Amino acid sequence: MSEAKRRAAEKAMDFVEDGMIVGVGTGSTVAYFIDALGREPERVRGAVSSSEQSTERLRAHGIEVLDLNATGPLALYVDGADECDPAKRLIKGGGAALTREKIIAQASQRFVCIIDPSKQVDVLGRFPLPVEVVPMARSLVARDIVALTGAQPVWREGVVTDNGNWILDVHGLRIIDPVAMETAINQLPGVVSVGLFARRPADVVIVGEDTPRIL
Ligand code: 5RP
Repeated sequence: MSEAKRRAAEKAMDFVEDGMIVGVGTGSTVAYFIDALGREPERVRGAVSSSEQSTERLRAHGIEVLDLNATGPLALYVDGADECDPAKRLIKGGGAALTREKIIAQASQRFVCIIDPSKQVDVLGRFPLPVEVVPMARSLVARDIVALTGAQPVWREGVVTDNGNWILDVHGLRIIDPVAMETAINQLPGVVSVGLFARRPADVVIVGEDTPRIL
């Protein structure tokens, strides 16, 4: 699987233009992308990072990490996903970085998603849906999600996000209308963000097959 991730990540370098500031996601697939960027760091002006983990790796390669407030809109965002449907809608947040990932995706003109073939699904929901919550609202949000969806939220105990919040993973979903579910969960008091990327899906998906396939 790691070879497939590496192939997808390296193909994403085709979308990097000289002098760009690149939005960078989080996870093991993105780590390969950062390493590829790190082999030619002079090509980019810098990066906006979605996590402390990616920031550390970018800096280790000598790539400057910039503040999104200072850069303004970005031309390109490259990130992985936990699931991807045929409409390029995603489940993300397996690495607990969903909120900053969503912010950068929203700020970017083009979102290139890099995945291995196992991430492709017809209907989202087999991968437990991550929801970042304010700690005091954990059980309130869990009860509201049960009432809303009938599925089972499980607290990812011991994990604190880069924003100081907690994660609920919602098991047993079959997400027929991802935009409606994203909107409904977003509106629950205590929810910081939900790992459904349906209102702002990926623009391009690179699947790391032997010859990477671009959707
Ligand atoms: C982190 C994410 C990742 O993109 C997602 O979990 C995929 O990770 P990996 O590339 O390690 O399979 O959303 O919050």
